[in-house]
Order: sequence, then C-alpha cells, then structure tokens
Amino acid sequence: MTSSANAGGRRRATLSEHVAPLMEAHNLTVRFGGLVAVDGVSAKFVAGELVGIIGPNGAGKTTFFNAISGVQLPTSGRLLAHGRNLTRARPHRFAAHGVARTFQSPRVFADMPVLANIEFGLKFAGRRRRKYLFWGDEVGVPWALRDAPSILALIGLSAQAELPAGAITPSQQRLLEIGMALATRPQLLLLDEVAAGLTESELEDMARLIRRLRDELDLTVIWIEHAVTTLLRHVERVLVLHQGRLIADDTPHNVVRNPEVIEAYLGDEMATPEEQEGEQETVA
Ligand SMILES: Nc1ncnc2c1ncn2[C@@H]1O[C@H](COP(=O)(O)OP(=O)(O)O)[C@@H](O)[C@H]1O
Ligand SMILES: [Mg+2]
Repeated sequence: MTSSANAGGRRRATLSEHVAPLMEAHNLTVRFGGLVAVDGVSAKFVAGELVGIIGPNGAGKTTFFNAISGVQLPTSGRLLAHGRNLTRARPHRFAAHGVARTFQSPRVFADMPVLANIEFGLKFAGRRRRKYLFWGDEVGVPWALRDAPSILALIGLSAQAELPAGAITPSQQRLLEIGMALATRPQLLLLDEVAAGLTESELEDMARLIRRLRDELDLTVIWIEHAVTTLLRHVERVLVLHQGRLIADDTPHNVVRNPEVIEAYLGDEMATPEEQEGEQETVA
C-alpha cells in the first residue's frame, strides 16, 4: 500500500471525487434592470480549497457572493450546496449548509463588546447544530472555534475582548467580522475584501490568517481581494470576473499569463513589481 505514504493530499483528492462540491453555480446570472452584474457564471468549490476571486470594480464579485450566500436571488441559473438545490433559498438555508460570509463594509455590533459580538455568532452555530446533525456536531468542531475566547485568540483580538466593537480600529473590525463568521462554524467562508485599507504588514498577517483557516481548520475559503499580488501568492486557484463574465478559472501561474486577464485587469494591477516584468516576457 503506497497510499498511506502521502495520506494528506491523497485523501483530500479522493474525498472531493466522491462528495458533492460544497457549492456549485450553474450558468448563474444576476440582472439589475438592464445591467447584467453576473453573466452566466459556472463554478464549483470543493472541500479544502482556497480560491481567490479578482476583477475590476463593478465586475460582479460581490454580487456573485451575494448570490451564493442567498442574499441576492439569481435571475437565472442554479445553485447547489452539497448537491442540494438552493437556487431560490433564503440566506438562513445557505447558512444551515455551512456558508458564512463577511461584507465589504464590516458589519459589527458597535455598542457590544468584541467578545459579545463573537458570542452572537456562536448562537447561530447552536441553532444550526440542532437542525443539521449530520455535520457541525460538537465533536467535529475544531478546538480553535470551540468558544468565543478561542476564536478571539485565533483572530488575534484577545486583548480587545471587553472593548466595544465600535472602539477598535477598522482593521481590527475586519478581523472581528471574520471571527463572527467563524463563530457560526462554517464549512465555506466567503471573504469580501477583508484586507481593504490594511497596511502592508497587516495585509500579510491577514493572508496568513486566511491560510491557517484553510490549513488548520479545514475550511473552504473563497477570497475576493484587490491586493492581487498578495492574493495570488496564497491561493491555489483563482477566478477572474470581468463585466459579470468568468474569463478565467485557473492556477495563479496560468492566470497571470492569460492574455485576456492581463488585458481586462492585471495589466493595471500588476504593472509595478519587477519580478512580474520578467515573467510576462515568457508569455507564449
Ligand atoms: N443592488 C444593486 N442594484 C443595482 N445595481 C447593482 C446592485 N448591486 C450591484 N450592482 C451593480 O452591479 C455591478 C457589479 O457590482 P459588484 O458585484 O458590487 O461588483 P464588484 O464587487 O466586482 O466591484 C456594478 O455595475 C454595480 O453597480
Ligand atoms: Mg465588491
């Protein structure tokens, strides 16, 4: 038996072959009047993936998140979570299927202490556990998500536990919002520009935290971010949206060499770093 030698990678690949994807979008379209914000997007997300979504402002990234978390009803197309049809479902059903998200502008309870904000999320986890016993049972909860203080330690806000959420810095509020999403004990975590406005070192810390959520807590993470260079260094797959259309779904290596992606987006976003210069010259 050679399979035990590299159990980690092997097992993940085998599981994803036999288990329905956490989330599938089939030909998903969202229209606002005459505007097609999401235009026939099809994509699948399987357990254990860390996927980035990039694209210019107005490309439809947030609308895509809204649709796959039940916040925005699609105009057409289909959504499946764990193989179940959630196309017309409300947000609480997506949450019950393990989907949690952050919003582009952090939504925290400003008057409540940081710790109480996390406890609020845990209440939802409790509700889900009773209703959906097949996963999310207490036994399967990673130690880092077992209670509010553990979650605060994970996101690095233990020292701020008793402060009102409105009194911590905007970047700490972004971490808190991730903590609130984690408290619902999701399987699929959607992060919408959680690193916007962060300093370079905060950005790197954020990227490292996101990696840990996947590597150590086994979460599937989809991460929208404009800090493309950092994002591409940390994800293994990236979706590129442009005017609502999915123009690439590939490895970072291939995406930065994709002429359509360079034309639509990366040409502007990645012009500065010298290392990209050399790489772009090798484009076939
Ligand atoms: N609720 C809405 N009503 C009307 N138009 C919207 C709404 N939400 C988003 N849009 C439009 O849809 C397009 C995609 O927006 P969005 O998904 O926020 O893009 P991104 O997150 O990639 O910047 C934009 O043109 C935006 O103005
Ligand atoms: Mg957006």
